[in-house]
Amino acid sequence: MKRVGFVGWRGMVGSVLMDRMRAEGDFARIGDPVFFTTSQVGQPGPDVGSGSRPLEDAGSLDALREMDVIVTCQGGDYTKSMHPRLRAAGWDGYWIDAASSLRMSPEATIILDPVNRDLIDSALDAGRRDFVGGNCTVSLMLMAIGGLFREGLVEWVSSMTYQAASGAGAKNMRELLSQMGVLRDSVHDLLQDPSSAILEIDRKVTETLRGADFPVASFGVPLAGSLIPWIDTQLDNGQSREEWKGQAETNKILGLGDNPIPIDGLCVRVGSMRCHSQALTIKLARDVSIAEIEAVVSSANDWVKLVPNDREFSIRELSPAAVTGTLGVPVGRLRKMNMGDRYLAAFTVGDQLLWGAAEPLRRMLAILSD
Ligand code: HSE
Repeated sequence: MKRVGFVGWRGMVGSVLMDRMRAEGDFARIGDPVFFTTSQVGQPGPDVGSGSRPLEDAGSLDALREMDVIVTCQGGDYTKSMHPRLRAAGWDGYWIDAASSLRMSPEATIILDPVNRDLIDSALDAGRRDFVGGNCTVSLMLMAIGGLFREGLVEWVSSMTYQAASGAGAKNMRELLSQMGVLRDSVHDLLQDPSSAILEIDRKVTETLRGADFPVASFGVPLAGSLIPWIDTQLDNGQSREEWKGQAETNKILGLGDNPIPIDGLCVRVGSMRCHSQALTIKLARDVSIAEIEAVVSSANDWVKLVPNDREFSIRELSPAAVTGTLGVPVGRLRKMNMGDRYLAAFTVGDQLLWGAAEPLRRMLAILSD
């Protein structure tokens, strides 16, 4: 029976992880969950089936060293502070992490088992101990078109993203809603009057968007009624860090380190709550029929869902509104482009808190508990 320590289980990703573990009955399987806290040591922990126990200190190396597995959703600063000290102290348990800090370390494996279970098994056989969830956009793209990579059909991918507020954090989700509310309130009376002029409504909305009082403390700029064409920090080569992760992490997940597939595109924040969407241009390694592509895409895993390239299906099933809170990863708009027979268009949507964050961690823990 393994002792599994949970850190950061109360935050947004941690809470989604807890919910999923409860829903799947995972706590009964792992045996001995221990809950850590950075601020409420000794207070009662959650009851996940075997009674509540006092919370342990997430800053205590001694308490953490008792664990066979540590699952952390506490964030990158916690990882940077605790992980090296634990390893230096000789701790050789499994570290399962949602944060990005360790992802590109040669010691770490990026976990997305429906796509790279073979790589995870090899890492376990080789005695690796650090397992890190991938960037949400990358994981969702691979859940969607992993079949094409697996069959060697991808020469390169350009991914243009439409990323949800949740990727920036819980406060940002609240701010998006506040922004929406402020915009609506600014034209409340005009909206009640069917004869009011739309350009007058638009003028007021624009004035509010640009006003000094518009709530932008978290995003820095308006998102509702607008968009933000930059995610994460600025790199010297003109990419955003989010864009850089596309190629770096995809190739690491697929184990293609020496022979990477080019992946690039622009990452854009839009006003959806927790679903990231991506418009993909895929250069195929050879000309393959759409029927064959559909078969390869849809058979890749149990969650990918082919949406026919049809208007009604697309608008109903291929949107954040349809997908949010579910594990399904729809892929649609599959068609050859005007550029030629080897250029494939696709559109995909996925919940960035589920496959994009919590689910790969939950499943890694299940793999270790098998
Ligand atoms: N970096 C992502 C985003 C979320 O900002 O949407 C985490 O992978």
